[in-house]
Amino acid sequence: MSDTLKSRLLQLLLDNRDKPVSGQLLSGQLGVTRAAVWKEIEQLRREGFVITSATNRGYQLTQMPDLLTRELIGGYLPSSRKASVICMQEVDSTNTAAQKLILEGGEDGLVVVADHQTKGSGRMGRPFLSPAGVGVYLSMVVEPHCTTDALNLLTSYAGLAVCLTIEECTGLRPSIKWPNDVILEGKKVCGILTKLVSDGENNRVTHAVIGIGINVGQEEFPQELRDKAISLRQAGAQDLCRAKLAATLIQVLDRIFFEEKWLQTTPDAALEQLKERSCTLGREVLVISPREERRGQAVDLDRWGGLVVDFSDGSRETVTFGEVSVRGVLGYLPQ
Ligand code: BTN
Repeated sequence: MSDTLKSRLLQLLLDNRDKPVSGQLLSGQLGVTRAAVWKEIEQLRREGFVITSATNRGYQLTQMPDLLTRELIGGYLPSSRKASVICMQEVDSTNTAAQKLILEGGEDGLVVVADHQTKGSGRMGRPFLSPAGVGVYLSMVVEPHCTTDALNLLTSYAGLAVCLTIEECTGLRPSIKWPNDVILEGKKVCGILTKLVSDGENNRVTHAVIGIGINVGQEEFPQELRDKAISLRQAGAQDLCRAKLAATLIQVLDRIFFEEKWLQTTPDAALEQLKERSCTLGREVLVISPREERRGQAVDLDRWGGLVVDFSDGSRETVTFGEVSVRGVLGYLPQ
């Protein structure tokens, strides 16, 4: 995808946020006249960018609109990374979009980000509310190249990546409700849904799509979600830049899956971090399967991210999927 003059200009302004850049320098670098630079600056201002200009000093970007565009997210990423980030104003689901792109050759590290999902999907076939302007809805394609056992760790590691991202961008310290909810103040701030894609011939998992939805700027939620959902804003993070949050998340995911290759190496340190972040361990849990509901105590995580539970009948089992409610988190308060 070739960059437009406007996006190249924006990139230069983003690269020089700490100082003004002269019109002459901009026109030289972009290979266009100063009048053309000025025209694009005016267009950016109309879109909500605050760009100061002072005679003999040049232009400086001082404020950006809270948009999830490729230029803005790319402004926080190395330029080589920006090429495989696709941003959409509105889409049914970034997971579905990423799955379609895999069929067209989309590879490791491809990211789809949307400002609004009309059909955001959650676990257990539930919808994931994804209104415009207040969330980050992001799917990343990962070619797992790992054992079947390690596939469950895709979601666990993604949860950890979200915690690290939120902590870096806001100073808040989220925890993880097993297996895939990121929690602040006992409520869900982010949900994760991982979809596996297999090749038709030998049923081998060729790709995973890790879908992550973060509540960022909501001031309130619909009545039915009020006890269960929270946004970063409600948790105290004001004026967050969603583009920066998305870019940070992409970089943390890149480090975990592509640079340090955790799926292949399953480092002990990663498991330790998962345990430290867990708000499920040590708590009374209700394990819900299609057939029954059983109470127990969550005691450990096994090395593949499974939840080890001591059930009230005295048995110890490792739960690898299904729904687990944790007492006092997301409204589960058994008698
Ligand atoms: C859950 O909490 O049940 C999982 C929610 C996952 C939501 C994300 S938003 C980005 C991606 N696209 C989707 O349709 N779902 C995931």
